[in-house]
Amino acid sequence: MRSSHRISVRDYRSDDAGATIDIFLRAIREVASRDYNAAQIDAWAKVDDPAVWAEWRASRPTWMAICETQPVGFSDLKTDGCLDMMFVHPNHQGKGVASLLLKTVEAAARNQGHRRIFTEASLTAKPFFERKGFIVLAAQTVEKRGQTLPNFRMEKTLA
Ligand SMILES: CC(C)(COP(=O)(O)OP(=O)(O)OC[C@H]1O[C@@H](n2cnc3c(N)ncnc32)[C@H](O)[C@@H]1OP(=O)(O)O)[C@@H](O)C(=O)NCCC(=O)NCCS
Repeated sequence: MRSSHRISVRDYRSDDAGATIDIFLRAIREVASRDYNAAQIDAWAKVDDPAVWAEWRASRPTWMAICETQPVGFSDLKTDGCLDMMFVHPNHQGKGVASLLLKTVEAAARNQGHRRIFTEASLTAKPFFERKGFIVLAAQTVEKRGQTLPNFRMEKTLA
């Protein structure tokens, strides 16, 4: 387990599924909403089937950031080196939660032999990933439930 101040990171457990849904929805509705319009946020901030979400989370390494006993963020790593998700609870922004999660993801990627990791960063997350050494490969748009959302393909070469 890694820790920084009162935040620690541990492996995802199946009983974390509800917490990851809550953090995902709140981070989009309360944080990413400053960079996307209401229709885009409505289209993005949806979990159609919590059971499918839980299967999907358990299907790949996922890590939980914990403050005292509360889950406050999560991230993951797909087998191809894609960091798919990075979400931090609105009440715990700017405290280094995502930084700690990223350290964990990078360590796992190195252990798996990846030389780089990549992500599709939201407008909101782009400055965070740039701060952490990612570069923008391309600006793009993605389709979510009939809405078009801009984001950025970014990657980081691992030292
Ligand atoms: C992007 C996000 C994950 C960052 O989480 P966080 O825990 O607040 O980030 P940290 O506190 O670890 O920040 C690390 C560094 O990035 C910088 N940073 C983070 N967000 C930033 C922003 N929007 N603008 C500028 N800098 C930012 C911090 O200032 C900090 O810099 P420092 O090292 O000089 O102190 C969080 O804001 C979030 O959940 N956003 C909404 C959901 C989202 O868009 N997720 C990404 C989907 S691809």
